[in-house]
Amino acid sequence: MQTLTIIQPDDWHLHLRDDAMLSFVANFSARQFARALVMPNLSPPILTVAQALHYRRRILAAVAEKHPFEPYLCLYLSENTSPGEIEKAAQTPWILGCKLYPAGATTHSEAGVGKLEKIYPLLERMESRDLVLQVHGEVTDGDIDIFDRERVFIERALQSIHRRFPRLRIVLEHITTREGVEFVTQTPANIAGTITPQHLLYNRNILLVGGIRPHYYCLPVLKRESHRQALLEAATSGNPKFFLGTDSAPHARERKESPCGCAGCFSAPLAMELYAEAFEQAGSLDKLESFASHHGADFYRLPRNRATITLEASEWEVPEHYVSPTGIEIAPLRGGESCRWRLVSD
Ligand code: DOR
Ligand code: ZN
Repeated sequence: MQTLTIIQPDDWHLHLRDDAMLSFVANFSARQFARALVMPNLSPPILTVAQALHYRRRILAAVAEKHPFEPYLCLYLSENTSPGEIEKAAQTPWILGCKLYPAGATTHSEAGVGKLEKIYPLLERMESRDLVLQVHGEVTDGDIDIFDRERVFIERALQSIHRRFPRLRIVLEHITTREGVEFVTQTPANIAGTITPQHLLYNRNILLVGGIRPHYYCLPVLKRESHRQALLEAATSGNPKFFLGTDSAPHARERKESPCGCAGCFSAPLAMELYAEAFEQAGSLDKLESFASHHGADFYRLPRNRATITLEASEWEVPEHYVSPTGIEIAPLRGGESCRWRLVSD
């Protein structure tokens, strides 16, 4: 049987939520990844270092002993974040940066940033303290087509942030377009991009052809095939500016299968299996390890992992949903369908 052993990967963009949901989902990620950058869009959001450190303890308490897992965090930037909080974050090893959510762009982004100019003093402080800015790169203007929101954000906001703060380290999170790939490729080494498994494997047809499929709906939304091809090329190029960030985002099944279903794909139970499939389709399985296990650690200036994981090519059926002991049902990406790769468990 074909197997693939690589250095254990890290997930540089992950949603774990809180309370019962956190307890349920944390081990799906801990089984696959050594470390993760956990997103701060809780309700209420993680705005301060003290809140981040408390949250980190809750995450660690949710992880089983057999899966050693290091959660890293980023602060949620708001127009009221104080420069002193940025200073504190820069001195806290578990905090790798601050996340910019344009207000209204996605789940729990209401407390995000309206006018970008308002956070320029914070960005200046981040630049001088070498804190990374993680960016949800979409404009929210009602007159901009949802499929163009990333491209327009790059043109109207990201280019000017980069020009104004040229040394600021930026990760354009979950890139979904050719323009996102081009922006990352054409800028210096302090700019990087994460890529999700769903944006490598699917184009927007999966959302609507043959019926509406809410479990494939995430933000930024899946784009047309030419964009998927650009992402696949970037991920498999060996360019260290592109690395793994699943954006696995669990929502209870009834909140996705609703007349106004929320955005987010839950990929944590089979994340590496999905990436392996995408890289194999591109004929680049040999590039999976650097994308998944080297580039992100190098960008965040953390040591590479030493443990390994093994994937084997043996087909299995993905459950339609996972049910927690407290009764939360979550439908994973690919639920009810088959998956070609399988992570070999301990
Ligand atoms: O699809 C998404 N879900 N995109 C985001 O930016 C947020 C995430 C979530 O928190 O559910
Ligand atoms: Zn996210």
